[in-house]
Amino acid sequence: MLSGQRKSLLLPLLSFLTFQFPHLAAAQTCTLTVPTDPLSSKGLSSPYRVAGCDQRQFADQGTFVEAAIFDPSTNKISIYNPLVVNDGDKAGKDFLAPDPVTVPYGAAVGIWFGSNAGAVLLKGDIKACVNGLGDSLFGQATKAAFSAGKLKIASPGTGVGSQPCPVVRDFRVVDQDQSDNVDTTYLLINKTILAQNTPAKAKANPDAEVLSNGSDNALLNKHLSPALDCAVLESSSLTSPTGKTASLATNELQANFFPPSSGPALVPLNGAFSTINTNGTITQSLEKTNLYRLGVGQPPGSAANASGTTYCRSFAAGGLFIAQNTKLFAKRPSPNPAAANNLFTFLANRFGESFGPVPFLGCEAIFGVGPPVSVAADGGGVVTAASINTKVLQSILDGKIKPAAATVAATTTAVATTAKAAVTSSVGDGYYYEWRA
Ligand SMILES: *[C@@H]1O[C@H](CO)[C@@H](O)[C@H](O)[C@H]1NC(C)=O
Ligand SMILES: *[C@@H]1O[C@H](CO)[C@@H](O)[C@H](O)[C@H]1NC(C)=O
Ligand SMILES: *[C@@H]1O[C@H](CO)[C@@H](O)[C@H](O)[C@H]1NC(C)=O
Ligand SMILES: *[C@@H]1O[C@H](CO)[C@@H](O)[C@H](O)[C@H]1NC(C)=O
Repeated sequence: MLSGQRKSLLLPLLSFLTFQFPHLAAAQTCTLTVPTDPLSSKGLSSPYRVAGCDQRQFADQGTFVEAAIFDPSTNKISIYNPLVVNDGDKAGKDFLAPDPVTVPYGAAVGIWFGSNAGAVLLKGDIKACVNGLGDSLFGQATKAAFSAGKLKIASPGTGVGSQPCPVVRDFRVVDQDQSDNVDTTYLLINKTILAQNTPAKAKANPDAEVLSNGSDNALLNKHLSPALDCAVLESSSLTSPTGKTASLATNELQANFFPPSSGPALVPLNGAFSTINTNGTITQSLEKTNLYRLGVGQPPGSAANASGTTYCRSFAAGGLFIAQNTKLFAKRPSPNPAAANNLFTFLANRFGESFGPVPFLGCEAIFGVGPPVSVAADGGGVVTAASINTKVLQSILDGKIKPAAATVAATTTAVATTAKAAVTSSVGDGYYYEWRA
């Protein structure tokens, strides 16, 4: 520990599989060893080591790490992405040594994880996880600075057609598992050598494969905001090729300080990663939902105000927003050409899936309606056309279509898990989140 530092470690294991069906997630479990004193300069620039998964098989086994560093002397946040390598990999041969980073005196540091694997179990120096979850210093430090007018987080502003620019906690942007993505990328050089995607390393290795993944944050930062002519919130970063990047922490902070006027989307009881999946039986858990919220700086909910019914009603606005911007989005490139042929078909398909049956949000059953989106795909399964039933969605949003009583009880009952403060272990869709003292 560096003396005098206020530190927090926020360790929700955040999945990158938002563009896939959660129940199709790979079953593989990786163990990630967190370096000693992970919030220090030395810890951040020490490689994380993964066992049970191959970091080079990135598509279904890769793991990402994203750290946000708040410097109270400049009131600025910077982003640093620690490198992940396989257990046994040697520096210089199997990976390029991580770039050094200096954690300023008094800084607050938060670390978030993402993985393409089925599940990740953290081991190593994870003492700080519980402390971080317990009092969430990163959130406090930044909130205090913001209140004092020192931390400047840009307002999202308005975009095309005077529409408010979207933030991550926005019903126009969320899917079945909101707030679960980092923006980390790495390099794979000559198909074997792992490295951080720093400006110098990217420049020296122009043919390297960039290891990145589908991410709600990337969808917002790289696709939706540009389509709507909205500014993207970026921070300086030693480990991003342009020297700047968006991040989970700054996206969540911006949404915290500038919530949408109709109210923020906060992780609900029926979220794909906040429910507990026991051999296919999905159970809602207020405790898991609130732990997840804490990990991304969101206020805790109650069984009533985190309910899936309330969330689904507001989420109807997502489909309406996509429909209203059909022409604009249809002109934009697809975030994932293997899934859909342009931004409109991609968003419409994503919304329709998210609205659909558990382990997605289960909104259709809650309101007793059919799928609000119909899609057509080509022979390769790429969605090429979509139509959105705006009448049904508007009626849900307006409260004219009411929850179908019978399904409400089954889908909104909060069930406490056996999780304890110090040891939390729960299973959801093959993922599990674990914090240990
Ligand atoms: C993750 O990235 C790999 C390439 O590194 C890609 O093949 C795979 O489809 C991506 N997965 C998702 C869910 O986007
Ligand atoms: C990758 O391979 C090329 C060609 O063999 C070589 O010149 C280069 O040094 C290699 N890169 C690294 C980082 O080892
Ligand atoms: C889940 O299924 C596995 C494998 O079939 C079984 O070993 C385990 O006991 C089941 N767990 C529960 C809680 O039913
Ligand atoms: C939801 O309920 C919790 C627990 O009672 C409370 O702390 C929180 O302020 C409520 N949130 C809203 C938005 O009302």
